[in-house]
Amino acid sequence: RNAHRQELYEVNQLATTFFHNCLTKTEMGKTGLAYLRNRGLSDEIIARFQLGFAPDSWDRLYRAFTERGISPGLLVETGLCRQGNNGRVYDYFRNRVMFPICDGKGRVVGFGGRVLDDSTPKYLNSPENVIFNKGHLLFAFDKAYRAIREKRQAILVEGYMDVISAHNRGVTNVVASLGTAYTKDHGRLLLRQADEVVLAYDMDGAGQKAARRAIELLQNTEFKVRVVAMPDGKDPDDYVRNHGPEAFLALVDKAVKPFEFLLNDALIRYDSTDIQGKQAVLEEVFPFIAATSNQVQREGYLRALALP
Ligand code: UTP
Ligand code: MN
Ligand code: MN
Ligand code: MN
Ligand code: MN
Repeated sequence: RNAHRQELYEVNQLATTFFHNCLTKTEMGKTGLAYLRNRGLSDEIIARFQLGFAPDSWDRLYRAFTERGISPGLLVETGLCRQGNNGRVYDYFRNRVMFPICDGKGRVVGFGGRVLDDSTPKYLNSPENVIFNKGHLLFAFDKAYRAIREKRQAILVEGYMDVISAHNRGVTNVVASLGTAYTKDHGRLLLRQADEVVLAYDMDGAGQKAARRAIELLQNTEFKVRVVAMPDGKDPDDYVRNHGPEAFLALVDKAVKPFEFLLNDALIRYDSTDIQGKQAVLEEVFPFIAATSNQVQREGYLRALALP
């Protein structure tokens, strides 16, 4: 069993090198490299995250790897290849920039692959397997670990590029939960490293919903929690690129407590000057208050709710 896991790690590592070489050393990878540079990434950060490019081909990886004696079954199991209805095995990631996903020890356990244009799905991710469990992994935790520990603070974002953009500009205590929502297992990873978790999710519907869910799961844990609001830009990547890392860190400094975040948000969406609006605001924040186990805190929230 352990030997089998080892095989999966090795194939993923080979694939990481294959995609990275393709990006940085071949004609095929030129469009991918131009795409990443155009998004503001330096060659240094491209190397640090071992970003890559999957060629626009149905079987280039498949051929290269089977020629080296790697079995089609193993390629399918890692998620690098798939088996079609006709039995043919083909490359799963094609014509995409590749983001290796590492576990806490820095071993590559899966990949995310992004299209270079507006086609869908925007990101393809490796299917889960014995070494790849999204709920137990934080993207870039291996690279953020030291900074998180030093600052006693983790900044949690949604996307690959949010993480990489921040690290690219020197903000290195940033990790992402992979498309999946934040889970209690993510908390377990951070627990001994950080006292505070700062949520910097996208300013769109999905992001704000994910933030609410994370708040729920982080409630009544040992973590201090705060939530960042980005006045413009869609996500931390946009914000860091448009305003720079200092401005982003200033937003992190100004991040508010979950209750304030929920209340502010409700006050924006409902007109609390009329009775129905006031009712709607109360209904929004009440579940959070009811779920607060600390009585003193709960009473504080209720006092704050005595709206004019
Ligand atoms: P977003 O839609 O916010 O994408 O999804 P993004 O990270 O800002 O991507 P860019 O900036 O356009 O490149 C947030 C995260 O959700 C997951 C990815 O992990 C993504 O980074 N996701 C999103 C998927 O897995 N598949 C998708 O099709 C879209
Ligand atoms: Mn679990
Ligand atoms: Mn989004
Ligand atoms: Mn983005
Ligand atoms: Mn985004």
